Amino acid sequence: MAKIQEPVIGLPNGAANPLRFSESRALQSKAHHLIPGGAHTYSKGDDQFPEQAPAFITRGKGCHVWDVDGNEFIEYGMGLRAVTLGHAFEPVVEAAYRQMQLGSNFTRPAKIEVDLAEALLEVIDGAHMVKFAKNGSDVTTAAVKLARAYTGRDLVAICVDQPFFSIDDWFIGTTELNAGIPQAISELTLKFRYNDLESLRELFDQYPGRIACVVMEAETGTPPVPDYLNHVKQLCERRGALLVFDEMITGFRWHLGGAQKFHGVVPHLSTFGKAMGNGFAISALVGKREIMRLGGLDHDHARVFLLSTTHGAETHALAASLETLRIYREREVVEYLWKQGERLRALVSRSITENHLEGFFELVGRPCNLVFATCDQEGKRSQAFRTLFLQELIRRGVIAPSFVVSFSHSNEDIDRTSQAVHEALAVYRKALEEGIDKYLEGRPVKPVNRRFN
Ligand SMILES: Cc1ncc(COP(=O)(O)O)c(C=O)c1O
Repeated sequence: MAKIQEPVIGLPNGAANPLRFSESRALQSKAHHLIPGGAHTYSKGDDQFPEQAPAFITRGKGCHVWDVDGNEFIEYGMGLRAVTLGHAFEPVVEAAYRQMQLGSNFTRPAKIEVDLAEALLEVIDGAHMVKFAKNGSDVTTAAVKLARAYTGRDLVAICVDQPFFSIDDWFIGTTELNAGIPQAISELTLKFRYNDLESLRELFDQYPGRIACVVMEAETGTPPVPDYLNHVKQLCERRGALLVFDEMITGFRWHLGGAQKFHGVVPHLSTFGKAMGNGFAISALVGKREIMRLGGLDHDHARVFLLSTTHGAETHALAASLETLRIYREREVVEYLWKQGERLRALVSRSITENHLEGFFELVGRPCNLVFATCDQEGKRSQAFRTLFLQELIRRGVIAPSFVVSFSHSNEDIDRTSQAVHEALAVYRKALEEGIDKYLEGRPVKPVNRRFN
């Protein structure tokens, strides 16, 4: 394989060196003409970023990216939390490339399907079987279908405090963005509150014998109260439903074995994606044999059409995932994510104090998955102040819709970021005092899941 050129990583642009976005602007109008929303993922869209922002990226290395105008940035969240090791991470790229040379898709399964199944199930306690796919939505939807088939029930209970489970109708039908989804489908999904066992119990009481599964993340911004997850599992089992953990974000981040291992609660089914392949398209539904086998060939029950896609086991994505898993195990990646997240958390916390922003700018979540919340003068959640903060970070060479770190965020990257954050928060403070209009250039960002533009 040709040696990958190590890019020259220069200093990010400082505030004194104003960025130019002329190429971004030109490409933006073309993109919106050709692609609804101008992008293939809503959360990467223009309405999620300030007007003064890079609109298109041309390349990345580690945690640095370069936009179409040649500006360099340190990036956070990378690939919607998929790129956990780093952009163009050489061992993973090479593993994928080696596999590509052997062929990417055959008429019979590839051996590597079994290799990755074995490697993945070794790290997920209590899961006996796995089906691979290309994205998280397909595997959470498959979990719901399997639970319905296994229990013979129609209803699904989802945790309403968690933002996303799937692009499919059973979930999107419950959001503001439900145009095109029949009400009859939306009505099959019920909602309960996180850390509120009673709200889940009420659903089971209200719909006795009808709930097939409970779908939730073990944790997002708020940790579970002691024993909550255990009680959820017990409640599911008492009422004949399955517990499904969506580990798309928590998987390989809270712990190598997912948030289920971190919290010591084994669900009946769980779904993984994102961190599995360092940006390559790969996801997995894993679970108990007795349930998963309904998708197989060795039982007398009605067969379940469980994840059968042309590209589901594309060999180079599996090779990328095998290598990613190997690196996670050998190089203590999870520990590193917690450590670097904690370094950033401590530095940003200091800036919050020094800029007197307690109650206005807040850090939320575990160090391995740190996010922030922005509030206005009245302490109310504010998209305008979020936009201002993003704008001021971008001006200083940092793209950070979250503070979610990767294995490539070095101490130097974190320290540079915290300097940019400190300066951005000083502007934030002034905007609170003098009015945001004086500082915000252009319109504020908007929530992804809204009904109208
Ligand atoms: C918790 C959670 N579940 C499921 C998904 C869907 O994954 P994908 O975008 O790969 O379909 C996401 C995506 O952001 C997610 O955050």
